[in-house]
Amino acid sequence: MSSKGNELNHLAIIMDGNGRWAKKRHKPRFIGHREGMDNVERITLAADKLGIKVLTLYAFSTENWARPKEEVAYLMNLPVRFFDKYMPTLMENNVKVNIMGYLDELPEKTYRIVQRAMSETANNTGLILNFAFNYGSRREITSAMRELGGMIEAGLLTSEKITEEMISNHLMTSNFGPYRDPDLLIRTSGEQRISNFLLWQLAYSELAFSDKNWPDFDKNDLTKFVEDYKHRNRRFGKVDESDS
Ligand code: FPP
Repeated sequence: MSSKGNELNHLAIIMDGNGRWAKKRHKPRFIGHREGMDNVERITLAADKLGIKVLTLYAFSTENWARPKEEVAYLMNLPVRFFDKYMPTLMENNVKVNIMGYLDELPEKTYRIVQRAMSETANNTGLILNFAFNYGSRREITSAMRELGGMIEAGLLTSEKITEEMISNHLMTSNFGPYRDPDLLIRTSGEQRISNFLLWQLAYSELAFSDKNWPDFDKNDLTKFVEDYKHRNRRFGKVDESDS
């Protein structure tokens, strides 16, 4: 570890607590999601200033379809609102948008806006803002297994040739190259679960939990978590040399 501490290249966040934020204020849940959406922009810019290269945000899980129809409809419309409102700021800040998930299953309007956001920012070279949207990690791993199985059936691979690297390369984070695994995962709202998020990629990530609901999680909170992370002792299963 250098004197400046661990580098934080990839930060992942489970943005939880929008509903509770709204309830506390006697407002409908969608107001919490709307506030949460505005906070995405604030935290994106703060993450960029902190030198983070990939910011992955869990925005809609494959399990979230089971919420009330009106809430699902509101959540499906959030990318439309978000990119309508913030695309100019994202462009000004050289942010590159990526959306990972089962995008073919999204309503047409949502599908079109996320594709447009990705293509309009494709040549940006700054922070990668990666939304997990209609994403589920077990399903992602299952898809990867199917792809590798297909290669075996086609005679392109044998089972004993399967490596961890190959599995990583078949996941939705593969295009982030050296930054494909998060260094740090933060979950807001006091819950301490992974909730089917990046199960393979989080194998050696540091975990941190904030009691604040997502709309209240601000740049000072982010800075504190990042500073704490920098001074953690990451061993990746090895023995710490200073202990021996
Ligand atoms: C969890 O809070 C939050 C979500 C399911 C939605 C997260 C989405 C955003 C913050 C906005 C995303 C923005 C874009 C551009 C897609 P919850 O509803 O589970 O809260 P609760 O646990 O308090 O009920």
